Amino acid sequence: MVNQRRHISGAVYVLLLTAPVLWGLVSQTCNGRSQSPVNIVTSKVLPDERLTPFHFTGYKETFYGSLINTGHSVQLNLPSSIQIKGGNLDDEYKAIQFHLHWGKDGGRGSEHTIDGEKFPMEMHIVHIKEGYDSLAEASKDSTGVAVLGFFFQVLGKHNFKKMSNIQYKFDNTNTKPYFRYNGSLTTPDCAEAVVWTLFESTIPLSRNQLAAFNQLRFYDGQKMVNNYRPVQPLNGRQVYYSSGQLALVSSLLLVVNVSH
Ligand SMILES: *[C@@H]1O[C@H](CO)[C@@H](O)[C@H](O)[C@H]1NC(C)=O
Ligand SMILES: [Zn+2]
Repeated sequence: MVNQRRHISGAVYVLLLTAPVLWGLVSQTCNGRSQSPVNIVTSKVLPDERLTPFHFTGYKETFYGSLINTGHSVQLNLPSSIQIKGGNLDDEYKAIQFHLHWGKDGGRGSEHTIDGEKFPMEMHIVHIKEGYDSLAEASKDSTGVAVLGFFFQVLGKHNFKKMSNIQYKFDNTNTKPYFRYNGSLTTPDCAEAVVWTLFESTIPLSRNQLAAFNQLRFYDGQKMVNNYRPVQPLNGRQVYYSSGQLALVSSLLLVVNVSH
């Protein structure tokens, strides 16, 4: 009897976590006025010349690690030697993890949208201010967390192997245009502590890579698909754009090895 009840409340909790409309019940913060993701209306963004290129430290290395199935995404924990500064961030930020959001059967699953367009997949590289030790601690500071978001676009066919191995590579300056706004984490507790940076140019992904994500499962055994939160109202927030930069010195290259 006791076991059964425990089992049921576990199932309810999983349901709450996997149903974004109900997140307000889990955490009041998810009902706040500066939530993420949002739809970016490009005709309404304001150019801001303070949005200078980022400087990446440690991004140039190639890391191999295991993807962790967190029950709502796949995540790779990152060493704190990976850091970003510049881009009008008020401090240096260190990486803690990255994870992905995707759709179903190759459908569209990004969290942010651009002029209403959803992309097949979106990657979030989560950083916290240099002085903090955890995401929980950084979440109490309204600019404690900096997330870099990248959209993926399906292009061509490549052969990629091994879900468990991931390889990624960045050049250490990236002058590609990006959008900036203040928002929240997109999973509970939805803390309004995130300086969001969304790069405009997309990263190519093969159909096979995207299909591999359909193999993943939530904790309740359901296929892990559509693990994105729907867009939230801007409530008067302004989105800025890093226009006026010198065009691309270098490009970002990311290779995610998926499928098994
Ligand atoms: C974000 O919030 C901080 C702190 O309130 C503020 O200084 C900054 O201008 C805001 N940035 C954007 C893009 O609105
Ligand atoms: Zn995310």
